[in-house]
Amino acid sequence: MHPLLNIAVRAAREAGKVMMRSWSHLDRVSIEQKGRNDFVTEVDRTAEAAVIQTIHRVYPEHSILAEESGITAGRKGGTEVEWIIDPIDGTTNYIHQFPQFCVSIGIRERGQLEHGVVYNPFSQELYTASRGRGAQLDGRKIRVSNKAKLDGALIATGFPFKSHQDFDAYLPMFAAVVKQTRDVRRAGSAALDLAFVAAGRLDGFFEFGLQVWDIAAGTLLVREAGGIVADYDGGDPLTTGNCVAGAPKVQAMLLKTLKDVSAEPPIKQN
Ligand code: IPD
Ligand code: CA
Repeated sequence: MHPLLNIAVRAAREAGKVMMRSWSHLDRVSIEQKGRNDFVTEVDRTAEAAVIQTIHRVYPEHSILAEESGITAGRKGGTEVEWIIDPIDGTTNYIHQFPQFCVSIGIRERGQLEHGVVYNPFSQELYTASRGRGAQLDGRKIRVSNKAKLDGALIATGFPFKSHQDFDAYLPMFAAVVKQTRDVRRAGSAALDLAFVAAGRLDGFFEFGLQVWDIAAGTLLVREAGGIVADYDGGDPLTTGNCVAGAPKVQAMLLKTLKDVSAEPPIKQN
């Protein structure tokens, strides 16, 4: 395993310990509201600190981009290696003891995604990828599904739950996808949705208005598992926050289905 990925896994497991320590008494965890339907708990903050500490103990010069604490330049102000961290992706699930949440850590070097880890401490499933070296679930190679049609495909999505206006624009897209596929899931963690696409459990995924830490690691997982991740116009989803992913043919048909409904994505980045 690449040394950077090794530290990312160690950091993810540390965050997982923090999450599971509070699991049995979540009613006593303090929760703050960042915005409408957008929460942060003391566990998000403690888990994020554990991740950053694990990284900086070994790589004090590396930069951090983390959901709760923002951007931290490395000790030498160096930005060549950037760690993109979501300490709990699926915070709403976590608060509700709905066991679909994870820590997501992506590593970019000179702007290029190089490594990614997604870890669900409840299921203890660990997804890893390094560019050019494939994607693994618990050390075993994973591939996207071999579905070549929307008919029979299982797709995940994320709802625009923060703004009703965005939801109105999104609904016709959702309807179009439901009508053409086997079914659609809204499981509440974009990072795990992408990991599930990489593992072939889902055939595709689409969501708009995401943040870079939601999708950095998952994007690499899907690509290394042989899938496609793009934004609405074929650009970089990490820049726009709009993400359409899947097994190659499914991704292309999913994108076409969405574009047939609307030439524009329903949300720009949140
Ligand atoms: C959220 C999850 C969710 C997605 C939201 C994200 P958070 O991340 O990934 O599935 O629909 O857009 O914000 O807030 O739990 O880290
Ligand atoms: Ca997130």
